[in-house]
Amino acid sequence: MQHAEYPIELMHAVCTAGASNGLASASPCIPPYASCFRSCRRRKRSFSYRSRTSFDVGKINMLRKAVTILVLTLIAGLIPADSTAENAAGQPDHPWWRHAVFYEIYPRSFADSNNDGIGDLNGITSHLDYLKALGIDAIWLTPCYPSPQVDFGYDVSDYENIDSIYGNLKDFERLEREAKRRGIRVIMDFVINHTSDQHPWFLDSRSSINSGHRNWYIWHDSRASGQPPNNWQSIFGGSAWKFDPTTSQYYYHFFYPQQPDLNWRNPAVEHAMFDVTRWWYKRGVAGFRLDAVSTLFEDPDLRDNPVRPGVNDLGDPLMDNLYNDNLPEVHDILRGLRKVADEHKAVLIGETWTATPDALRKYYGEHNDELQMPMDLAFTEIATLSATEFRKHIAGVESAGIWPVYVISNHDIVRSYLRYGDGQHDDAIAKLMAGLYLTLRGTPILYYGEEIGMQNNDPQKKDDVQDPIGKLGWPRQKGRDGERTPMQWNDTPNAGFSQGKPWLPVSPSYQTHNVASELNDPNSVLHFYRHLLALRRRTPALLDGDYLPLNQDDPNVLAYLRRTKSSSALVVLNMSAAPQTIRLDLSPKGLASAKLWPLLTTMGTANPQATVAQISLDPFAVYIGEIRK
Ligand code: GLC
Ligand code: CA
Repeated sequence: MQHAEYPIELMHAVCTAGASNGLASASPCIPPYASCFRSCRRRKRSFSYRSRTSFDVGKINMLRKAVTILVLTLIAGLIPADSTAENAAGQPDHPWWRHAVFYEIYPRSFADSNNDGIGDLNGITSHLDYLKALGIDAIWLTPCYPSPQVDFGYDVSDYENIDSIYGNLKDFERLEREAKRRGIRVIMDFVINHTSDQHPWFLDSRSSINSGHRNWYIWHDSRASGQPPNNWQSIFGGSAWKFDPTTSQYYYHFFYPQQPDLNWRNPAVEHAMFDVTRWWYKRGVAGFRLDAVSTLFEDPDLRDNPVRPGVNDLGDPLMDNLYNDNLPEVHDILRGLRKVADEHKAVLIGETWTATPDALRKYYGEHNDELQMPMDLAFTEIATLSATEFRKHIAGVESAGIWPVYVISNHDIVRSYLRYGDGQHDDAIAKLMAGLYLTLRGTPILYYGEEIGMQNNDPQKKDDVQDPIGKLGWPRQKGRDGERTPMQWNDTPNAGFSQGKPWLPVSPSYQTHNVASELNDPNSVLHFYRHLLALRRRTPALLDGDYLPLNQDDPNVLAYLRRTKSSSALVVLNMSAAPQTIRLDLSPKGLASAKLWPLLTTMGTANPQATVAQISLDPFAVYIGEIRK
C-alpha cells in the first residue's frame, strides 16, 4: 500500500496566494468587532480576487464540468441510524434549537412576490416548501421592520411592525403560520444597540434637551476645543459623534450617523426594548438574533480609546475599542432578555465577535443564563482552506466546553464560495465546507444561497454600490452588496427572483448555480446539502456525539469522530487539491477492530474498499462513514 503523497508545492501555492499580496496571514484578526468587520473582509477579498481574476464564468464552467467526476453517493437506508433511538430530541425537555439547522434569510434578496425588485415576506412564504425539503428547522429573518433603509433595515424606525416594502403584519402572520405547518420556526433580528434617527424616540430625543426621550440616547457637549466629546470612531467611518444643531450637542453612533446608539443605562430603554420582545413572542416568534450585542454600553467617563499605528480601509486611525465595546454591563441586559425568552421557550442567538472561544463563552452566561446561541464567527476569519487552522479552532471551542454555533458566511462577510474557492474545484470546496460545519458538534446557521454554491458578485464601479460603507471606502472597501445578491432560483432572467429589476444585480453564476438546475443534477452542491442535512437529522452521533479529533498532525486532511455511547460517525475532509490517503488507528479510542460503513461521500464510488486502516480521498473530498464495533 502506498503512502499518501502530499504535493507540497501545490498546497504551498494555495496557502500563500494572498501572502504575496502582503495580505494573507496566519494570524487571526484581532477583535473587537470593528477591526474584524473590515480588515478581515478586505484580506479575504483580496486573496480571493487574486486567485480568481483570470477566470471568467465560462472557463469556470468548463473546469467545473471537467472535475465533475465527483459523484454524490448516498448509502441511504442501509444504515439503521435513526433506529438507535438515542435522539435526545424525543425527550420532552429537550431544547428544540439544539438539533435544529438555522437558515439566515436576507429578505430583500430572497424572493420578490410583487415584482418591485425587492424581496418580501410573501416571496419567502412561497418558498417554504423548498426550505422544508432542504432540511431547515428555523429561519432567521434579517430586519424587516419599518426603516428608512440606510443600513437596509438595521436602522429600525418602528420595532412593532413590518416595513411596507416587505409586506405587512398579516403577511408576517401568514408566513409564520405556513412555516409552522412545515415545522419551521421564525426568528427575528433584534437591533438593540441603536435605532434609526427617524424612530419617534430619537425624533423626540433630539428635539430638546428637556425632552422625555433625551436620555434614551447618548448626548454630550463638545470638548472645550469644539471637537467631538472623545476620539471614538464609527465602524462605518469617521467620528462616532455627530453634532446636532437643534440642541448644540453631539450624539453617539457606533454605526452610521442615522443609527444613534440607545442609552442602555437608562432603565426606560431596557423596559421598552424588553417589551418589544414580548410583543413578538406573543405573535409566535421563536426567538431573536441579537444584533451587535457587544456594543450596548459605553464608558460613562467617555475615555479616549488607545490608538495604534496605521489606518483602516476607510482611512481612519486603527484603534482598540477599549471603552465602547465588550463592556461587562452587557451581561446584565442579556440575562434580562433571557428571562423573558425563557418565559416563552424562545432562543437567543447573538452576533458575538470575540477573539477566542473563551471570550465567546462569557456570552453563554456564567450560569448558562444569557444567550443559548452566541455565534462563533471565527470560521469566517480563516482565510485559507487549512486543515490545521480549522482543527486548531475547533479544539479551542471544544476545550471551552460550549455548545458551538458555527457560521461560514453571512450578509456582512464575503461568501465562503469565493473565500475558499480556487477557481477549479469550487463546487467540491463548497461541499467540503458543508461537510465541515454541518457535521461538527453544535447548531449550524446556514446563509441563504450557500447551499447552491452562490458566490459574491461585487460591484464593478462605485456608482453601482448600494451599501454606504462601499461608497465611502471605494475601492479598498467595496461594501457588502456582493454577498447580498438575489437568490438564484432558476436560469430565467433575474434568476427567477423577480420580474422587475432586482435591487442588486444577480450574480452571473445563476446560469449554472440555481435551485432548478441543481435539483436536476445529482452532483450539485444542493443535492449534497440535502443529503447531508437528512443524514445529520437521522444520525444520533452527528446530533449528539462528542467530538474526537483524529490524525492531528495531518496538514491536509481533517478527520474526526462524532461519538455517542452506542454509535460513532467518522468524518474525513480532504482540504487539499491533491488526492490523499489516510490511515487511522482507532485503538486508542477503544475501536481497534472497528468496521467502516460509508454513509455519504462526494466520491464517484461509495469507496467500498475504504477501511479504517486506509481511506483514499479525491481532492477536496468528503467521506462520512459509520464506525461499527
Ligand atoms: C450588524 C449587522 C450589520 C449591520 C450592523 C449595524 O453587524 O449584521 O449588517 O450593518 O449590525 O446594525
Ligand atoms: Ca417586492
